[in-house]
Amino acid sequence: MDPRCNSGDVTEPDDRDALLDLAARHAKDYLDGVGDRPVPPASGTDDLLAAFAQPLGTTGRDPRQVIEDLVANAEPGLTAMSSPRFFGFVIGGTYPVALAADWLTGAWDQNVGLREVTPAHSAAREAVEGWLTGLLGLPEGTTMGTVTGGLMANFTGLAAGRHAVLARAGWDVEASGLQGAPRVRVLVGEERHDTVDLALRYLGLGEPEAVPADDQGRIRVDALADALTDEPTILALQAGNVHSGAFDDFAAAIPLAHEHDAWVHIDGAFGLWAAASPRTRHLVAGFEAADSWATDAHKTLNVPYDSGLAFVANSTAHRAALGIHAPYLIHSKGAPDPMELGPEFSQRGRAFPLWAALQYLGRDGVAELVDRMVHHARTFADGVRAMGGEVLNDVVFTQVCTAWGDDAKTAEVERRLLADGTAWMTGSTWRGRKVLRIAVSNHATTDSDVERALQALEVAANG
Ligand SMILES: Cc1ncc(COP(=O)(O)O)c(C=O)c1O
Repeated sequence: MDPRCNSGDVTEPDDRDALLDLAARHAKDYLDGVGDRPVPPASGTDDLLAAFAQPLGTTGRDPRQVIEDLVANAEPGLTAMSSPRFFGFVIGGTYPVALAADWLTGAWDQNVGLREVTPAHSAAREAVEGWLTGLLGLPEGTTMGTVTGGLMANFTGLAAGRHAVLARAGWDVEASGLQGAPRVRVLVGEERHDTVDLALRYLGLGEPEAVPADDQGRIRVDALADALTDEPTILALQAGNVHSGAFDDFAAAIPLAHEHDAWVHIDGAFGLWAAASPRTRHLVAGFEAADSWATDAHKTLNVPYDSGLAFVANSTAHRAALGIHAPYLIHSKGAPDPMELGPEFSQRGRAFPLWAALQYLGRDGVAELVDRMVHHARTFADGVRAMGGEVLNDVVFTQVCTAWGDDAKTAEVERRLLADGTAWMTGSTWRGRKVLRIAVSNHATTDSDVERALQALEVAANG
């Protein structure tokens, strides 16, 4: 019995089981209803604070009641991000098998930074590393770090790049830092994702030099050719522009950058998965020649959050940039320790849900998932045009960027759509115009969800 309260000790098996069953029941109820509830939350943060921010008592409370209260407090403030009609940002849903594996990951409570200390996870991680390098067609020997998300996957690839270009210039950045180091140029497409800039900030590399982009947001290779010099350089390219879904011309840009000894990183937070389908593989043609790649399994692959992936072709650079050793740790004598492949020391067992999702889908299942998302995006584009909206991008992948007359009208369509609650799409500004973005990224989205979302959009457009 917990001495601080009279409510039972949940380390007793029966109490613990009851608590976990309670949480599982609430989770199942939520998932059963998520496709029917309005997508936006019913209440805002300020309204919810009264329930959440009760004064913290001096004594603890019954854990079952804590879970009941958590559910009751959270319910009105949950945004149905896993709804099959959530098309905002680029979010992804979650396959039940990946969620189940994620629950087990929590229960197993492994700190997986050291390969030999947590062998079950190490084996799962190394299996996933092999499957994904094969599925995506990345070079043999590529190492994969499991990180929090796209930002940290970009950070990891760029950190390896910083290490490599400075080492070539005779500078040991891990030992000497950046003070007095040769200048590192970082070239990016004008429309790179903002997290590339943030990762560069963390790395002390400052603001990158933006190379002009074309009308789909792809880096202009002619402008890149003019910008490249023989100074130590990192080039960040993009597989999947957040507005247009467009892919940079890797086949042209990468050899050009390599002629100047530049390190080439690709941010493919959602778009890297195009490589997994024969129908979309052409979009990434030539991308395997890059040096590092970032993606997010929580987006296109539909595993729970906390599943960014950083791939680096040169494992030595990967480990040198991020590895750390301490006498009290039990380091691997062979393959890398996971803590050498990403920015964190302690880590959650992120490979378990990945392993489960990939086992469940198989290679064909991943390809079919990608194809289905592209199919839905095209249906959206056709539907928008049919009802008089504009589609501003070439719909090559999962993003549809729409406009509805002038900026004020597009903003009004967005407002009405969210007020209706059937679907969620996000507003933005692209190439000087207010737009309404539709991002398809949930495995559970069906033709009928797309139909319902289009109907809601038509009502919003016609006021
Ligand atoms: C192209 C691109 N890069 C990076 C990110 C950042 O990913 P995360 O939110 O997982 O850090 C996103 C997120 O939408 C993205 O679309």
